[in-house]
Amino acid sequence: MPIDALFNPITIGTLDCPNRIVMAPLTRARADAHHVPTALQGIYYAQRADAGLIVSEATAVDPLGMGWYRAPGIWTDAMVDGWRGVTDSVHAAGGRIYCQLWHMGRLVLPDYLGGDLPIGPSPIAGEGETMAPPTEEYQGGFLPMKPYVVPREMTQADIDQVVAAYGRAAHNAVAAGFDGVEIHGANGYIIDQFLQSKTNRRQDGYGGSVINRIRLLKEIIAAVIAAVPPGRVGLRVSPTSERKGMGDDNPGALTEAIGALAKDHGLAYIHLIEPIASGFMEKPDYPVMDRLRAVFGGTIIQNGSFDADSAAAYIAGGQADAISFGRPYIANPDLVTRFRDGRPLASANFDYAYVGEEKGYTDYPVFQPG
Ligand SMILES: Cc1cc2nc3c(=O)[nH]c(=O)nc-3n(C[C@H](O)[C@H](O)[C@H](O)COP(=O)(O)O)c2cc1C
Repeated sequence: MPIDALFNPITIGTLDCPNRIVMAPLTRARADAHHVPTALQGIYYAQRADAGLIVSEATAVDPLGMGWYRAPGIWTDAMVDGWRGVTDSVHAAGGRIYCQLWHMGRLVLPDYLGGDLPIGPSPIAGEGETMAPPTEEYQGGFLPMKPYVVPREMTQADIDQVVAAYGRAAHNAVAAGFDGVEIHGANGYIIDQFLQSKTNRRQDGYGGSVINRIRLLKEIIAAVIAAVPPGRVGLRVSPTSERKGMGDDNPGALTEAIGALAKDHGLAYIHLIEPIASGFMEKPDYPVMDRLRAVFGGTIIQNGSFDADSAAAYIAGGQADAISFGRPYIANPDLVTRFRDGRPLASANFDYAYVGEEKGYTDYPVFQPG
């Protein structure tokens, strides 16, 4: 049966995983108001511990990179302690969890920075809007939306600070008991802002050619692998994404450069978001997977609108080694079992995707027959 391909164990880098179903990173905003992870998050992740690998929600490496109310961080001791509770819960349930290391760059609203401008490679605003932090009258529920602003162009000192923050965060992730880390180079955040030509107009050694645009990522990888062995470091990228005003002149060439960099540093995996089945991203006819495979020898985790059948077919066809699932994991804590048993999936209530406590988070039941 083709679905079996999902259930062949796999060693990703140096981590043994019992299946090829990865829980994709999902920001759910259930940390506390100071970005400290909560016991509720431990329950949520432990419910999903039979995934081959869990990649945590995006976790900010420092305050300048944090622009999301109640998203977690990993720059203080309290945050490390909070995460320790989460990783202990996952491990007690038999699971494996990586920390996704995040810096939002230009996508942080000044409201999160005491009125200061966010930082980015070039003074170009993201397209669209994002949730502002609550005011004192906030009673819960949806937060007001505000447009992205033009960031301050980063100096060399700013760049050095971001690289150092990634290194510290990687160190903290080990202290918090994570099995490894995933560098968030996707979805229009700071690394992606440097990678893609539309958002990086720098004239210095970090802009222009592809080699220059991958320089920040290269420095971040070096800082991270000083704290975590490369066999426990993954990288997430979305080189064809045009969301939030992203874009690249030649995503195929960019992808090859990223793949070569990851290979040179012996990274465990690349987690590629591609609009294979469309639905989450644009450009469904511009897959870069084959070009990545040609240069990167490690594990490739594919993501984007897969179901059990398309995922198994992808793996069986050698197009990916594992598949990650995002939205399906919201309402199906037992996704692995549902896939294995051919059960229908529950649908998520997206009103609670980024807002609330237990409801729409830890209260989705496992499959109940008839
Ligand atoms: C509620 C929600 C939160 C997300 N948060 C993150 C995140 O923190 N980090 C990240 O890299 N991607 C994030 N994504 C993207 C998902 O990881 C995934 O790429 C996307 O949902 C497409 O996969 P799917 O079709 O399996 O849902 C998020 C998506 C959703 C719907």
